[in-house]
Amino acid sequence: MLPFTVNLVAALAAVTFLRPSIAHPTTEYKRAANVIRDCVEPNAVALTFDDGPYIYMEDICNTLEAAGAVGTFFVNGNNWVCIYDDDAANRVKYAYAHGHQLASHTWRHANLTQLGWDDMHSEFWRVEDALLKIIGVMPAFVRPPYGLYNDLVREVAGLRGQTIILWDFDSGDTVGLPVDQQIQQYGQVSQSRPVNLLPINHETSETTAHEVIPYALNVLKSAGYKFVTLAECLGMPAYQFVIPPAQRDASWTCS
Ligand SMILES: *[C@@H]1O[C@H](CO)[C@@H](O)[C@H](O)[C@H]1NC(C)=O
Ligand SMILES: [Zn+2]
Repeated sequence: MLPFTVNLVAALAAVTFLRPSIAHPTTEYKRAANVIRDCVEPNAVALTFDDGPYIYMEDICNTLEAAGAVGTFFVNGNNWVCIYDDDAANRVKYAYAHGHQLASHTWRHANLTQLGWDDMHSEFWRVEDALLKIIGVMPAFVRPPYGLYNDLVREVAGLRGQTIILWDFDSGDTVGLPVDQQIQQYGQVSQSRPVNLLPINHETSETTAHEVIPYALNVLKSAGYKFVTLAECLGMPAYQFVIPPAQRDASWTCS
């Protein structure tokens, strides 16, 4: 599913509209975001990677590519690294250029259920702004940190045109399970062979990048799955709109 390009004027108008200072909408504008945990496409696996863009991101991209696979990265703006750091921004560009999907994991990995309207919009907006500047895309999907959301999170995501994405499989890297157990989990799920799979992984884990994902690609491939982006797995566009990326300037900062 290719992203569509709208004309620049309309896109910039939309960007302005989505800035965090917007007023709380009256009821007729409310549209709570859908919350999705499962793929739709049969025989497909949408591998997802949270918490980057971290130092293993390019390794993961290369491992995926060698297996003929693509993945989806839910990035933060200012969590393990600042997304505007040269290296981090380059990793985002690399993933995008190599056919992977970029999505929002919000700015600083806050527990969104503890935030009010303005702070929550800011958590959403700042990472959207970074993705627009670095690669020119407005994400259509958000994964709330810790998978935690409430009605306000759904309302904010909905107003910002985003769908909330959770997952239907966790090998245990979320809680730091030993590598052999994570590998066992991927082995077991391949054997039980659900119709499709939406696994959560963390690109900040060295063992996930270098041991678990190579194993998962092998065992899932042997089970007959194909590897697709989240957008492809859902049959939905990855991005709300695409504009030309920006040049680095003083606004590329996490402070
Ligand atoms: C997030 O905030 C809620 C509400 O205060 C709390 O119940 C929950 O334990 C928090 N979770 C995390 C992971 O911070
Ligand atoms: Zn996370």
